[in-house]
Amino acid sequence: MKVLIAEDDSASRMALKTTLQKWGHEVIVAEDGNEAWELLQIENPKLAILDWMMPGIEGIELCRRIRKKSDCDYVYVILLTSRIEKEDIVAGLDAGADDYITKPFDREVLRSRVAVGARIVQYETLLAEKNVQLQRYGSEMGKLAEERSKQLVHAERMATVGLLSAGIAHEINNPATFIAGNIQTLGKFYEDVEPVLLERTKQDCQDTEKLEFILQEMPKAVEGIRNGVRRISRIVNGLKSFCRKNENSVAACDINTCVEQALELCHNALKYYVTIEKDLAENLPHIMADSQQIEQVLINLIVNAADAMMEKGQGTLSITTRSADNSVVIKVSDTGPGIPDDKLDDIWQPFFTTKPPDKGTGLGLFTVRGIIENHEGLISLENKPCGGAEFTITFPAVT
Ligand SMILES: Nc1ncnc2c1ncn2[C@@H]1O[C@H](COP(=O)(O)OP(=O)(O)O)[C@@H](O)[C@H]1O
Ligand SMILES: [Mg+2]
Repeated sequence: MKVLIAEDDSASRMALKTTLQKWGHEVIVAEDGNEAWELLQIENPKLAILDWMMPGIEGIELCRRIRKKSDCDYVYVILLTSRIEKEDIVAGLDAGADDYITKPFDREVLRSRVAVGARIVQYETLLAEKNVQLQRYGSEMGKLAEERSKQLVHAERMATVGLLSAGIAHEINNPATFIAGNIQTLGKFYEDVEPVLLERTKQDCQDTEKLEFILQEMPKAVEGIRNGVRRISRIVNGLKSFCRKNENSVAACDINTCVEQALELCHNALKYYVTIEKDLAENLPHIMADSQQIEQVLINLIVNAADAMMEKGQGTLSITTRSADNSVVIKVSDTGPGIPDDKLDDIWQPFFTTKPPDKGTGLGLFTVRGIIENHEGLISLENKPCGGAEFTITFPAVT
């Protein structure tokens, strides 16, 4: 331990120095209070034996200064004194001294008091370290809590959007039904009008060209509207079934239908830069599942794949379904950058995301795994040798 001795009496100083060195301490000495104060700043001793009365700054004043200093480790202070009046001892301890030794010092007393000092210094050092650790944990926990609460708010908002979309889907369904009904009527009217128009074109009137154009384009326009309305209905029905709150909806379910439905719902996220390759097995056995949850799993994997390929600006999403050994196997793979080896475990953790806060919640794969395990299925992941990630899901088939 590094010990500072501040004593103006050279005989006493030397005696203390050699004794402490013999006990294995590193000793630095000061001949007066000013030098002692200087050494205290530079050398950072753990223990200081300060003579009460010495030129420059007195021992008791040094004590006060040491205790006022907040930017250093704890210094255990022993006052060296010939004053043994009760008031003096109290004044010394009040000034911040930890202990005192009377002059001329007794070796045994010195040894045990320095040993006490060493013990206290050790505790203080440990305490200071723990404090630093605690402060670090405290600030990390604070940051984590703030981050988590933001993510939870976002997840909550997304859940609310999900709920709202059931209502929105219903609202869209009504006008879509008018359009569908009216276009059917228009189609029928047109069937009646078409022969009349055709007849007119044969009569060499001045509108012939225009009429021919209408005859050519009208069926296409009607069919275009029909297709559009059909698409709206499919999306709306998809949304409605996705948002349906059904506690007990486990039933025999066809995975291929779930894949089609999920792709339909993700159409918008994929259409600009993702090529879809579907390879869906025919006569696939059913699985016992909540189809809405299976769609949710697929949507999460599809959106993740699309996100992964976004940077390249193009890519291929492949979905295959197969039946094997009493199970149904689904593979979802992409041509994105894949997942770094050191993140292969992390991605399943809740709130792990590499996406910006307004894009990722880090809850997708955590939810995916939860749903699959609830269905007694398995999910695994590997990076393909040619690049990109491939998720493989296996569900027990209904036999
Ligand atoms: N197909 C993929 N390709 C590359 N990285 C992926 C893929 N799927 C998931 N990841 C990584 O796993 C992380 C966690 O995904 P997820 O749990 O769905 O949360 P989020 O999509 O909100 O970030 C993503 O942020 C991404 O880093
Ligand atoms: Mg995701």
